[in-house]
Amino acid sequence: MNTAAIAKHRPAALQRSDLHASLADPALEAVNFLNEVIDRFPKAISFAPGAPNPQFFDSLDVGEYIDRYAAHLAQEHGLTLAQVRRRLYQYGASRGQICDLVANALRIDEGIAVSPRAVVITVGAQEAMLLVLRALRAGPNDVLAAVTPCFVGIVGSARLLDMRIVAIDEGAAGIDLDQMRAACQTARAEGRRIRAVYVAPDFANPSGALMDLASRQALLELAETEDFLVLEDSTYGFTAVRGEALPALKKLDHCHRVIYLGTFSKVCLPGTRVGFVVADQPVVGAANDRLLADDLAALKTMVTVNTSPICQAVIGGILLAHGGSLADMMAEKASVYRQNLQYLLKALERHVERRDGVSWNAPSGGFFVRMRLPVVVDDALVEVSAREFGVLWTPMVHFYLGGVFSHELRLSCSYLTPAQIEEGAQRLGAFVEYVRRMQLLRAARS
Ligand SMILES: Cc1ncc(COP(=O)(O)O)c(C=O)c1O
Repeated sequence: MNTAAIAKHRPAALQRSDLHASLADPALEAVNFLNEVIDRFPKAISFAPGAPNPQFFDSLDVGEYIDRYAAHLAQEHGLTLAQVRRRLYQYGASRGQICDLVANALRIDEGIAVSPRAVVITVGAQEAMLLVLRALRAGPNDVLAAVTPCFVGIVGSARLLDMRIVAIDEGAAGIDLDQMRAACQTARAEGRRIRAVYVAPDFANPSGALMDLASRQALLELAETEDFLVLEDSTYGFTAVRGEALPALKKLDHCHRVIYLGTFSKVCLPGTRVGFVVADQPVVGAANDRLLADDLAALKTMVTVNTSPICQAVIGGILLAHGGSLADMMAEKASVYRQNLQYLLKALERHVERRDGVSWNAPSGGFFVRMRLPVVVDDALVEVSAREFGVLWTPMVHFYLGGVFSHELRLSCSYLTPAQIEEGAQRLGAFVEYVRRMQLLRAARS
């Protein structure tokens, strides 16, 4: 081929600077980097991803659940076989078709009373976040507050939508309310408005923090006085000891201040990608009596059209097979996750020395432990840990909004066996010892 022909067929290379700024966001890069490290060091024990434990999938028969849901449509809703097939195989309503089952489960399991009309079934909680932020960001002065460190998915969604974010410290009570109040006032003085604050009050990802009851109540009061919404992410709430869970913010909410984000990924299976959002806020100034859920469903028609009906049928079938409530299933899984957490905490005590700036928290639920080291913890250090010590984890820096250094890492133990946790903690102990020696050496030299 002559050079003119080669030039003619040159691929259309794109400049990163010509693409959306979120693509260069450290959060997106971090996920790629971690996946790449996991691939490169397959023998390393990974405390990195917060995936559900695969032992729960062994006896799972999704076909059985789809049949259960199909039978429900026929028996309870009087659908013919052809109509049932259409429900499962065709495009469907953008708000989803298991809203009634989800609203019922919320009432039984969480004491949250909402109409099915306020529920939208989404492609994971992740899509719910994107839809909610899309709806709330009416203009460039609309800001999201997020209790940090926080789940990268909410920050990523805001970045995709060019929504400004302000960080609020977690503090000892799950949210620093004085800082939140000050952030509202500062935003107002600058001509901006904080539309909502993202919180994960029950065993947050990544910190494991639990918001106490008084702070839950005070947050709702502040939301009233400063006029913002609360985005409540309930992902890890189910891991609480049965009967000891604190009430969801949505349960305490009498003024439609809380938008509740839910997922079936951890309690059922992430492969269905089914989550939901409860948005019972009335939208005034619109035609008819509309709820925010109606608008989110409208937005969804332009994002994913509808959540896969087959996947909804799996979740619907699971709910029906358990009498409409997931409480027993949640309790069974929660006890395994809490056991893993206890294994990890005990193994850390055995294998890692808690001194010279090395410490960690001890959450009573959730998937995560937060460990502090006497050095800056970044991607380069993960690489050392994987290559030299055969153990992986997540640097906490990725859960902040950027421009910070962090001395912390996140350990997740949800999908490991007790033997892997033991071995992993041993390797972590050797890695921490190495870090401590390096630090002492550096201190001696300076
Ligand atoms: C705090 C938190 N929220 C939401 C999600 C996303 O859930 P989904 O799988 O439903 O998109 C996760 C997933 O790990 C999470 O940790």
